[in-house]
Amino acid sequence: MAGGEEFELETGELPAERIAPPQSFMEQANVTPAQLQRFTEEGVDAWEMAGDLLTWDEPYRTVFDEDAGDWFPDGQLNAAANCLDRHLADRKNQRALVWEGQLGETRTETYLELSRKVNAFAAGLRDLGVEAGDVVTLHMPVIPELVVAMLACARIGAVHAVVFAGFSAEALATRMAESESAYLVVSDGYYRRGDAVSLTNRAETVRAGLDQEVTTVVVDRLDDRHQYSLGDRDHRYEELLAAHSGETVDPVTRAATDELFLIYTSGTTGKPKRVTHTTGGYLAHTAWTSHAVLDIEPSDTYLCTADIGWITGHSYIVYGPLALGATVLLREGEADQTPKTKLWELVEKHAVDILYTSPTAIRTFMKWGEEYPAESDLSSLRLLGTVGEPINPEVWRWLYEQIGNEECPVVDTWWQTETGGHLITTIPGVDEMQPGTAGPPLPGVEATVVDETGTDVDPNTGGYLAIETPWPGMPRELSTETRWAETSDVLPDSEWAYMTGDGAVMVEDEYVTILGRVDDVINVGGRRYGTLELESIIIGVEDVAEAAVVSGHEDHGQGIYAYANPAAGADETAVRAAINRAIEQQIGSFARPDRIVLTPELPKTSSGKIMRRLLTDIARGNDLGDTSALRNPEVVGEIDSATNSD
Ligand code: WTA
Repeated sequence: MAGGEEFELETGELPAERIAPPQSFMEQANVTPAQLQRFTEEGVDAWEMAGDLLTWDEPYRTVFDEDAGDWFPDGQLNAAANCLDRHLADRKNQRALVWEGQLGETRTETYLELSRKVNAFAAGLRDLGVEAGDVVTLHMPVIPELVVAMLACARIGAVHAVVFAGFSAEALATRMAESESAYLVVSDGYYRRGDAVSLTNRAETVRAGLDQEVTTVVVDRLDDRHQYSLGDRDHRYEELLAAHSGETVDPVTRAATDELFLIYTSGTTGKPKRVTHTTGGYLAHTAWTSHAVLDIEPSDTYLCTADIGWITGHSYIVYGPLALGATVLLREGEADQTPKTKLWELVEKHAVDILYTSPTAIRTFMKWGEEYPAESDLSSLRLLGTVGEPINPEVWRWLYEQIGNEECPVVDTWWQTETGGHLITTIPGVDEMQPGTAGPPLPGVEATVVDETGTDVDPNTGGYLAIETPWPGMPRELSTETRWAETSDVLPDSEWAYMTGDGAVMVEDEYVTILGRVDDVINVGGRRYGTLELESIIIGVEDVAEAAVVSGHEDHGQGIYAYANPAAGADETAVRAAINRAIEQQIGSFARPDRIVLTPELPKTSSGKIMRRLLTDIARGNDLGDTSALRNPEVVGEIDSATNSD
């Protein structure tokens, strides 16, 4: 794979126990085995079930054009009209958003109220010069204004690019430069675990770093705690909205294949990876999986604890649930905020039906103890879902028993920024669940596990996970000529395949257990980091010659480990501080390493390559095996004790 390094695909002991979905759930589930049978009978055309969840201005005649790699190619629609306008006849006074802010504030927006704001902001954006196809960058925490801005862009056919609020000004500028974005909607700041973090320098830094002129709209989140002085090209969100209050903007009809948004994720090249999602295919995929996997119905109150700045928030806070007309509970800040009873109080207060969260958060809840959820009435819950990283059987069980009272199915959904929506998961009213195993590929999707040569491995054997059929939520980068996500030495022997970058094991009936990333991406706490990106920042620090970044062991709550080789005589404290500062400036403080290990030498193979695999084993406290083939085996013990000494 990338980097050419051998990844050991240890399968360990595979989970085996299977649990039938609760009968009460099956009786009301959104999809039935008979419906899913259509995928077997009709192949790709069965994705019509996804397309038909949407309202089309121009109905599609073709589901998938294999030659072009396009989904619903002749269909036309508008995503904002699908998330708002079409719901107004039936439920204009139903709540679309219920927002719970970090300071304890609550706000609600009915479908009608949200629609009015989206219309007014769409008119405002137009007034500023935004046209269909322009890229508008959005940079704020989880507040209703972010949803308004996303849907306002979609309404006028502009392409939004949400940049997670925790990214630094420099990271924001890099992304805006890459997408040639000339519009920025930014909040004056956000709250991190209750503390105000100002974003007021963002617009200036971005302007200084970009060739293009940037027009900025500032959203007030910190109230008068921070004054944001406006420049010539700056506008206040509230004023822009007020100036256009009551205006309506006809939704701009888009081709299904037109871009809906861009999102940057961590790739293997050392630079942020741009992923472009389409209006028709992506929206159909997220609506279908929200319906079939998350079992969302319009009458549901749904809570996903992700941040909208990442793909999970795009697909399963905004587009999927709103396309289905549900009530979305928006929660600002981390899932595991204190007080420890908080999340469960919200579930009770709003009678949440569906909770979608991350294994990292569940591990924290489990560590805190079951007495905290026990204080609240969680009986409104009907389904639980997880995403972002593997969930081990013990944590799965805790969720199933302590939160779901063995009455809610748990869906362990495997997917990626690139896939747009779920690809591997059980269907909750249909499939048996297997704790620790995501489940089979979605009906209509085929997956395989291959070795280094691209040959399918035997069942129960570790290998590289590849998807062998196109899916509606696939990004534009995967259609037409560029059918491969990234160049890879491993190409399965099939006509079409997408290498996921994950290791996996599949059993005979296709249940897939994910083993984790096997490329130059690490996944820590459900977030993606490019090791080359982090390493090149560290190497850029004065007095650092070489660096290697690996991930520690999730279950032990360890994260990013950075190994660096400082120049002889360098002041170690200063080097550590400089590494942290550089990462904070170029990415954001969320990407700071949990451990920085300074060592006079990094372990190398006889050909001089850094052995990241060995460093990963050291960081995870694994058995190191025979290291005598290294060029410098004597450094291993030293690095091991420097890593694991306290
Ligand atoms: C990992 C997040 C195991 C995986 C939606 C993937 C998972 C990466 C699961 C994508 C899961 C996601 N079980 N691993 N259920 N879901 N992953 O792009 O390594 O931020 O490649 O998308 O998260 O991360 P991304």
